[in-house]
Amino acid sequence: MRRSALDFLGGMQSMSLAQLSAILAVTAQPFSADFAGARFIQLYLYAHRVDGLQPGVYRFWPERAELEQIGVKTQRVAAAGLSLGQELAGNACVAFSMTGDLERAARAHGDRGYRYVHFEAGAIGQCMYLAAEALGLGATGIGAFYDEKVNRYLNLTPEQGQVIYHFAIGYPVPDLRLRA
Ligand SMILES: Cc1cc2nc3c(=O)[nH]c(=O)nc-3n(C[C@H](O)[C@H](O)[C@H](O)COP(=O)(O)O)c2cc1C
Repeated sequence: MRRSALDFLGGMQSMSLAQLSAILAVTAQPFSADFAGARFIQLYLYAHRVDGLQPGVYRFWPERAELEQIGVKTQRVAAAGLSLGQELAGNACVAFSMTGDLERAARAHGDRGYRYVHFEAGAIGQCMYLAAEALGLGATGIGAFYDEKVNRYLNLTPEQGQVIYHFAIGYPVPDLRLRA
């Protein structure tokens, strides 16, 4: 059943904190690859409608399973605007920027580090697709975003990495192309 949502219902319906926690937990699971010993991807969240979570921008700390709020309520406009103006990133319940520590990856793996960071982001995205579907939600990977604007919005220094991938999760609009 896993499909990419074309857009999300942007109304009042929220996702629960338990659903978000389950999705974040899968992003922290180890995955099997010869380069996967060290992790290079960091998740930032644009929380729009999550029960019990103040709308805003958060950094996810996987070791402690904690969210640290780093921004306030303009995150909906920011998520869509930074995602090349794609409204689905604002209509979702939660959108993500995955940032990657490219410098550390290059130190560990040489030129291949750049590719491995993208593999890791892709693997996390596919796990989030499946988790969202299993929880009755929908998801869309977002490869179109304004790199430098995202890096500035998140206050990333080059040493902290740069944006690699965007993602959105929420209640999908009906997709008339699909039949059960
Ligand atoms: C890496 C990646 C980037 C994507 N970027 C976008 C995007 O920027 N906007 C969008 O609407 N969909 C985006 N998608 C969703 C694709 O359009 C979708 O995966 C593709 O049409 C295949 O459909 P499916 O995922 O339902 O199999 C992206 C998907 C992936 C995996």
